[in-house]
Amino acid sequence: MCGIVGYIGGKNCVPILINGLKRLEYRGYDSAGIGIINNSHSDVIKNKGKVSLLEEKIDNLNLFANLGIGHTRWATHGLPNEVNAHPHFNTSKNLFVIHNGIIENYQTLRAGLKKLGYKFITETDSEVIPHLIDSFLTKGNSLFKSVQLALQEIEGTYGLVIIYDKEPDKLIAARKGSPLVLGIGEHENFVASDVSAILAYTKQIVYLEDGELVEVYRDKFVAKTIADKEIQKEVHEISMTLEEIDKAGYDHFMLKEIMGQPESVCNSMRGRIVLDKGTSKLGGLEGVVEKLAAAKRIIISACGTSWHAGLVGEYMFEQFARIPTEVEYASEFRYRNPVINKDDVIFFISQSGETADTLAALREAKIRGASVFGICNVVGSSIARESQAGVYIHAGPEIGVASTKAFTSQLIVLALITLLIARRKDMSLVDGKKIAEEMQKLPDKIAQILKLNDEIEKIAEAFKDSKNFLYLGRGYNFPVALEGALKMKEISYIHAEGYPAAEMKHGPIALIDENMPIVFIAPKDSTYEKILSNIEEIKARKGIIIAVASDSDNEIDKLVDYTIKIPDTIRMLMPILTVIPLQLLAYHIAVKKGLNVDQPRNLAKSVTVE
Ligand code: F6R
Repeated sequence: MCGIVGYIGGKNCVPILINGLKRLEYRGYDSAGIGIINNSHSDVIKNKGKVSLLEEKIDNLNLFANLGIGHTRWATHGLPNEVNAHPHFNTSKNLFVIHNGIIENYQTLRAGLKKLGYKFITETDSEVIPHLIDSFLTKGNSLFKSVQLALQEIEGTYGLVIIYDKEPDKLIAARKGSPLVLGIGEHENFVASDVSAILAYTKQIVYLEDGELVEVYRDKFVAKTIADKEIQKEVHEISMTLEEIDKAGYDHFMLKEIMGQPESVCNSMRGRIVLDKGTSKLGGLEGVVEKLAAAKRIIISACGTSWHAGLVGEYMFEQFARIPTEVEYASEFRYRNPVINKDDVIFFISQSGETADTLAALREAKIRGASVFGICNVVGSSIARESQAGVYIHAGPEIGVASTKAFTSQLIVLALITLLIARRKDMSLVDGKKIAEEMQKLPDKIAQILKLNDEIEKIAEAFKDSKNFLYLGRGYNFPVALEGALKMKEISYIHAEGYPAAEMKHGPIALIDENMPIVFIAPKDSTYEKILSNIEEIKARKGIIIAVASDSDNEIDKLVDYTIKIPDTIRMLMPILTVIPLQLLAYHIAVKKGLNVDQPRNLAKSVTVE
């Protein structure tokens, strides 16, 4: 959730930290701060609100230091204000700490430290960390040892970076449950919660694992476990580019990512479709195809948009692979007592690969002996690394907090997995080829839908003051109704609900009146006639209807108030098309309401706390 960046080297760290924080702002944006140490001056500068405000504050101070840390916060404990912002420090203000995660036993630690005379000035859980480390430093321990000893007392999750003015040749970083990477440069090194913060400076990355801490100098680093065992870490060269994480002329990352879907969908299937055999080739699943085909049950576990993708996956797997499939919120899965059999396989879907609930569910499933496979976007992320096998969706970095291109790419990967399993079972070559051919046409069809942007913007104008929205769809498009409603709520703050269209008469129909806009996802498929009946039911109650319908449908216009006409494809792939107008509708309504689309209130990309 929060963003972390740290630097040690020969350059002035201040602009490096500020640039890093700007890149990380999508992870949390209620306050920000930096802590710097140089020979003559150590300081902490913090501010409520965005990184740009912190930057303004810093601009006049003429700061220079070769060692520093920066943090952008998403509040868990304590209000988002300057005092609660990171870095936190000890009483002598010469030890600075930035923390991502939650210290679960902070109240006990705080009480103990208070008894030792430590004074607390913030409402955060994180403030115990500098004082706890300080309590070990005062006993004569080195910084590294003190951090190690402190971590032995801390329960909870953390990505931590610490600097200390009595040992200005190093920074210490530690990880448990919150992602942290090292960036290796020439006579300089970096620490960050994700690579986008340091990509401008290096592509040589070391991924820290849970339970590891590392002493980082200008020219080397030493990694150890909390129990003091030295470990060798591999340096990875990453392929991400700076262009991928820029707005590229768009007003918002979200719009760039919506508009980039012809390309991202193409990248997700590149080299993976075997057209003449009507199947797919997925390197990450090569060793487990037999296991997948023999599975008695598939479980898909995820959160939010990724969970919606999982629901579409359920329809695909059951229709074509003929394997019973269940989709479960990761947060529920991890805490109930799920029955897992040896022939079950479990897919964990996560754009970031760092979602705390999904990661915990994966670990729980592993303990129970399940086969756990990941479907992730972020290469090298925790879920990707801890899965036994898996598939990257290759959508490219997704920076907008509202997930868009990851969803369509997740669906592509689920369709590829369906082909892989179904062709091993009873799907015919003809049927396999048909699906593969239709998949290849998707990028062009998405591009066609994106040309409706202006038309959708006009519809957004008509509905920007709505207080509620209802989204209805059937079959494969029921999860799309959920996803459309989620997009609307999270960036427009308009209450929106998604339902299977037939469920409407079991309750939600009571909400319908002349002020209620209803988005029907109504392509011409086998449920079309039923959808028309549902539309009639709404019309009879004066609801206002926006229909996402097939290009070829000339009847629906007479029944509804607004239509968005899109190309057709086969049913299982339709969600990849129907979701696009819903993303654009939510986007334009939010922009018209003057809201910050890329950084909606209370949200953050990558939910690394429970
Ligand atoms: C919705 C959204 C969230 C995420 C959810 C899971 O637009 O962004 O609902 O989908 O937090 O995140 P990942 O996929 O990173 O596990």
